Amino acid sequence: MIDANGTIYQDLTKILVTREEIAAKVKELGRLITRDYQGKSPVMICILKGGAVFFTDLVREIDLPITMEFMAISSYGSATKTSGVVKVIKDLDNDILNKDVIIVEDIVDSGVTLNYLKGMLEHRGAASIRIVTLLDKPARRRVENLKVDYSCFNIPDEFVVGYGLDYDQTYRNLPDIGVLSPKVYEKE
Ligand code: IMP
Ligand code: MG
Repeated sequence: MIDANGTIYQDLTKILVTREEIAAKVKELGRLITRDYQGKSPVMICILKGGAVFFTDLVREIDLPITMEFMAISSYGSATKTSGVVKVIKDLDNDILNKDVIIVEDIVDSGVTLNYLKGMLEHRGAASIRIVTLLDKPARRRVENLKVDYSCFNIPDEFVVGYGLDYDQTYRNLPDIGVLSPKVYEKE
């Protein structure tokens, strides 16, 4: 794995969550989901691409006959103004009628994207839907009634990268989560 003295780490101002802290939380979350879904076979949905690294670690901590699905979505609208409508870029391969669904996200920010997605999956007849997120920025929430069922870390309102999260598609492969130096986006 990449060492924290590595080249791409030079673009961070600080490391916010270490790989050890992540691993411990993911283990704990896996145990919790295993307990909460006893006797069930949930469909775990990875929201691409940000959720991919977290997802592949999490599923290996769950002792249940789960199935995996991958979905890619994007929000309509400009960067500053989200319309709240989500465009499905890659849909599920199987239907979720009467299934217990667990949505796995990298980060909940405004909550607009997840709120729309949850409504869409409810409409498809899922038996239950829960939301799992690696990171939560509660200060940024714009959706009042969005329930985040399992969250690993609450973080302040700073732009973070690593462990799946990107800036302009880069930094997803950092094993730790860090705050991106403003120097990186000021270059543009
Ligand atoms: P929202 O909750 O609808 O505002 O959108 C959340 C999405 O915004 C996430 O899935 C990420 O793709 C992206 N995002 C929000 N905050 C960050 C961040 O700090 N770093 C990287 N991506 C972020
Ligand atoms: Mg993203």
